[in-house]
Amino acid sequence: MHKPLTIAMPKGRIFEEAAELMKKAGYDLLAEQEESRKLILEFPEQNIRIMMAKPMDVVTYVEYGTADIGIAGKDVLLEQDRDVYEVLDLGISPCYIAVAGLPDQPLSKIAPKIATKYPKVASDYFREQGEQIEIIPLNGSIEIAPLIGLADRIVDIVSTGRTLKENGLVEYEKIVGITSRMIVNPVSYRLKSKEIDEMVNQLSEVVGEDFV
Ligand code: PRP
Repeated sequence: MHKPLTIAMPKGRIFEEAAELMKKAGYDLLAEQEESRKLILEFPEQNIRIMMAKPMDVVTYVEYGTADIGIAGKDVLLEQDRDVYEVLDLGISPCYIAVAGLPDQPLSKIAPKIATKYPKVASDYFREQGEQIEIIPLNGSIEIAPLIGLADRIVDIVSTGRTLKENGLVEYEKIVGITSRMIVNPVSYRLKSKEIDEMVNQLSEVVGEDFV
């Protein structure tokens, strides 16, 4: 038998949606994970190994080839610009990246501060708008920044809009829509093209997308 196909899956909220899609495509990965804290799961009967990764790290495992395939948010792909193939839009975990801040606060004229965990996406966006900004990098709870005067605006994910609302913030502009994507290591794609194509084809039937 060939070496197992290794898939880096995001832990947390995307996992269940992704695993549900995999199940519909004929790969039942849910049963074992539900009760488990294991980070590497083996499915010998399907010749698959799953690595449970932080969503931001999935792309790293795939770029270095320790995982052949990964499921990653478009937000991470835009931010990290790594050497991986993006083969399928899974359409799951839809949300978007937006600029938000306190209501009725015009953007300061001189180097407004933008708090974000997406420095590249934010810099690219404001450069296109012709605005010179200062990035304040944060790792989470970004919405705090305008409340305590650390930043004029934030650039962050909006899903239901609840976090903005409950913190008295408003959305100023949408930057880009986000869904989860299937990504593939370029070398794996050559060496394991049969298994990978089979999985991508089955998943694309489930999500109703042509794969690119
Ligand atoms: C994300 C994002 C927002 C929130 C948006 O944070 O950064 O804070 O979800 O979701 P909503 O529009 O449904 O309220 P996450 O929960 O990933 O935690 P973080 O603050 O640690 O980034």
